[in-house]
Amino acid sequence: MSNQDSVSRRNFMGSAALASAAVSFPNILTAKSKGKEVIRFALIGCGGRGKGAAAQVMNSPHKTECVALADAFMDTAKGAQNYLKHVGHEDKLKVTDDTIFAGLDAYKKVMEMDNVDLVLLTTSPGFRPLHFEHAINKGKHVFMEKPVATDPVGVRKVLEVARKAREKKLNVVVGLQRHYQQKYLDLYQKVQDGKIGKIVGGQVYWNSRGVWVREREPGQSEMEYQMRNWYYFNWLCGDHILEQHIHNIDVANWFIGGYPSQAQGMGGRQVRNGKDHGEIFDHHFVEFTYDSGAVISSQCRHQPGCMRKVDETFQGTQGSVNTGQGKLTDLEGNEMFKYKAGLKTKSSGPSKSKADPFSEPNPYQVEHDQLFASIRNGGLIADAENGAKSTLTAIMGRMATYSGKVITWDQAMNSNFQIMPESVDWNSNPPTMPDSNGMYPIPTPGITEF
Ligand SMILES: NC(=O)c1ccc[n+]([C@@H]2O[C@H](COP(=O)([O-])OP(=O)(O)OC[C@H]3O[C@@H](n4cnc5c(N)ncnc54)[C@H](O)[C@@H]3O)[C@@H](O)[C@H]2O)c1
Repeated sequence: MSNQDSVSRRNFMGSAALASAAVSFPNILTAKSKGKEVIRFALIGCGGRGKGAAAQVMNSPHKTECVALADAFMDTAKGAQNYLKHVGHEDKLKVTDDTIFAGLDAYKKVMEMDNVDLVLLTTSPGFRPLHFEHAINKGKHVFMEKPVATDPVGVRKVLEVARKAREKKLNVVVGLQRHYQQKYLDLYQKVQDGKIGKIVGGQVYWNSRGVWVREREPGQSEMEYQMRNWYYFNWLCGDHILEQHIHNIDVANWFIGGYPSQAQGMGGRQVRNGKDHGEIFDHHFVEFTYDSGAVISSQCRHQPGCMRKVDETFQGTQGSVNTGQGKLTDLEGNEMFKYKAGLKTKSSGPSKSKADPFSEPNPYQVEHDQLFASIRNGGLIADAENGAKSTLTAIMGRMATYSGKVITWDQAMNSNFQIMPESVDWNSNPPTMPDSNGMYPIPTPGITEF
């Protein structure tokens, strides 16, 4: 680990702070695409989130055009083209038969297009470091989904490319959208103002029923099967402690203002353990310990019929904060603050989040609105470093639950453990293969080593 990485574990600067710094001092930054009337973008990874992100770009108040679509599979790329037409963006959809690409090298064709200012990187996470590196080398602004890698080698690559992006004044937004959600921003500010004192502990949760399964189709190669059913394979997904629970772990890092020095935990697969479920666990419990001594208990579970909860609570020396309810309480349990939508009406998009009880501006929209404002004003949003370090935090948790050992930050950051192959093609075998019964090797605490 470089000195820079080790120092910045303690000196955290959230994306919102960086965004506002960029907005305050746009004149010190001269960035690519500044002042351009129309920002042209391409989508790489045309699945559920990619289609949503592309629609949000087109909903933003800035003039945008989608000029290319790329996916591993042509059926999915075409599906995104139809979707964007049908949600009312036909006028901004400038994709032609020559700019809709399929295959594992489709991303390269997009990166070669000079008229592309911004790329949306929304494939399964394993490919993120590779795609991010190409995008920054080719001078593109980036929106990329979380997590930004599935192994420590990929995290280090993203950190290296993040530095290059800053040097080149290229904006990078990472889809950890709580940093763009007004409720979280208001609660964070109260914590920064010292309303609950110093955070000494907390609990973060992503306990749910689980996600989709894409069944094996007749005639599929093992590579195609894993690419489509990617959630259950670590080289592509990283397990749900990384793919989903990263959101809550990232909030802990953000509110505490640093990254944990060690993790220890336990987990396994008890309910979701069939042939369709690849190699990932269905539950993890991790204690993350920070330099200050604060301990965060992290739970994530994918099991139907159990308690469901996705939120974060932190206890401080003078009170506590709960993000689900959006409130601060003192040490006697008296409410000190409750977030109400509309108290602040800063940046917002046209749409409101359906799921959020506070009907606040949809953070998925806000992150794109701010990205476009920053590109056009010559600002600089630099989310990649935190995206990489929160990715590493969740990977560190996974290393702890798989091995049953205490994993330190330095061990995780310096680890040469690599599950994402250097190159992938349709004729190669994925890094994990089924046995004669169709079952995959499962990590065993006490035996699995890194
Ligand atoms: N921020 C959020 O709240 C949020 C919500 C949902 C998903 N996500 C993230 O978005 C990403 C995508 O998730 P999704 O739900 O859209 O999955 P998805 O399976 O619907 O879409 C992924 C797409 O990427 C394509 N793809 C995979 N590898 C590729 C490659 N090398 N080149 C080109 N295309 C490739 C797949 O064919 C697929 O169409 C994940 O990282 C996920 O964690 C974030």
